[in-house]
Amino acid sequence: MTMPKRSLLKIILLGDSGVGKTSLMNQYVYKKFRPQYKATIGADFVTKELQIDDKLVTLQIWDTAGQERFQSLGVAFYRGADCCILVFDVNVLKSFETLQIWHDEFLQQVDPSNPETFPFVLIGNKVDVDGGNSRVVSEKTARDWCVSKGDIPYFETSAKEDYNVDDAFIKVAEIALATD
Ligand code: GTP
Ligand code: MG
Repeated sequence: MTMPKRSLLKIILLGDSGVGKTSLMNQYVYKKFRPQYKATIGADFVTKELQIDDKLVTLQIWDTAGQERFQSLGVAFYRGADCCILVFDVNVLKSFETLQIWHDEFLQQVDPSNPETFPFVLIGNKVDVDGGNSRVVSEKTARDWCVSKGDIPYFETSAKEDYNVDDAFIKVAEIALATD
């Protein structure tokens, strides 16, 4: 009997404060959503196992602080990352505009051998808010940005309603695995 191959994949969640990074992680890993906001301080990880084809994959998901005054851990925890999930809130323009900075700073700090092909996934979160009537970033605008960055996969999610969250993380696991 051949044992399935095991992989440990390090995933980093980045994006402005309040966009829903912690909520996406909690929805995916624990199937829980909390409406009260509690800022993440520093960075910590949780793990989640899943199977992709014949491979057992352990995702080590690092949730980071969007608030600048809590970004005190330095850059050591980016090292060895296999995929970076960039998150913005489709209802907050600034959180979309800042993606460029998160993207560039991440690449600078993780210093991958090939920055052009480092795997990112973009998530536009909170599509449930006001039935979609308060969104200010269209799906097309987000997709265009992804294309300009070398075809980053894009997912629209609601951590609150558990919409598209699993699909986004499965894609993350797949592309991280492909470059592992
Ligand atoms: P920092 O830890 O400060 O970086 O913020 P964060 O990105 O981790 O945001 P967090 O997950 O704490 O969510 C911020 C607020 O938005 C909380 O009150 C959440 O309940 C709420 N929230 C998160 N995701 C959604 C969503 O999909 N829909 C709605 N309506 N609210 C959400
Ligand atoms: Mg958080």
